[in-house]
Amino acid sequence: MAEELNIITSASKAEKYQSLLPQIEGLVTGERDVTANLANVAAALKQAMNFFWVGFYLVKENQLVLGPFQGPIACTRINFGKGVCGTSWKEGKTIVVPDVDAFPGHIACSSASKSEIVVPGFKDGKVCMVLDVDSDVLNDFDETDQVYLEQLMKIVEQFYY
Ligand code: SME
Repeated sequence: MAEELNIITSASKAEKYQSLLPQIEGLVTGERDVTANLANVAAALKQAMNFFWVGFYLVKENQLVLGPFQGPIACTRINFGKGVCGTSWKEGKTIVVPDVDAFPGHIACSSASKSEIVVPGFKDGKVCMVLDVDSDVLNDFDETDQVYLEQLMKIVEQFYY
């Protein structure tokens, strides 16, 4: 396992993701513990992309329950269809929120969070988790984030059980 991430800080966002994804794949390959892998994925994403908050919410007994994350403390449980995460779970698709205050029902875990992207992960055709990424800057996420974070979730789905 690589002990350090190699990310060129001056690179474009797409270049950073292109460099990061194979390194994350290397990081999780050979480790079968889900918690260890989710924790390292969250840490790698936060470190490489310098996001405000990165974490997983896992579907458990009909709720989303906070999983491994990096950043300030966060809400522990989210109901189906609630907030950005619960909506992504319900709709089974990525949701990009340029301004969290303009999203009806947004759950504010931190007042510093200004924009957000939530990407679902699937097992047997059903949403089994979501990846939530928050920024302290308005309008910080676009199609580039969506494309690469959806690719990241394909890697995560392979080790998640
Ligand atoms: N804002 C999210 C809740 C999770 S925190 O951002 C970490 C939502 O509305 O679902």
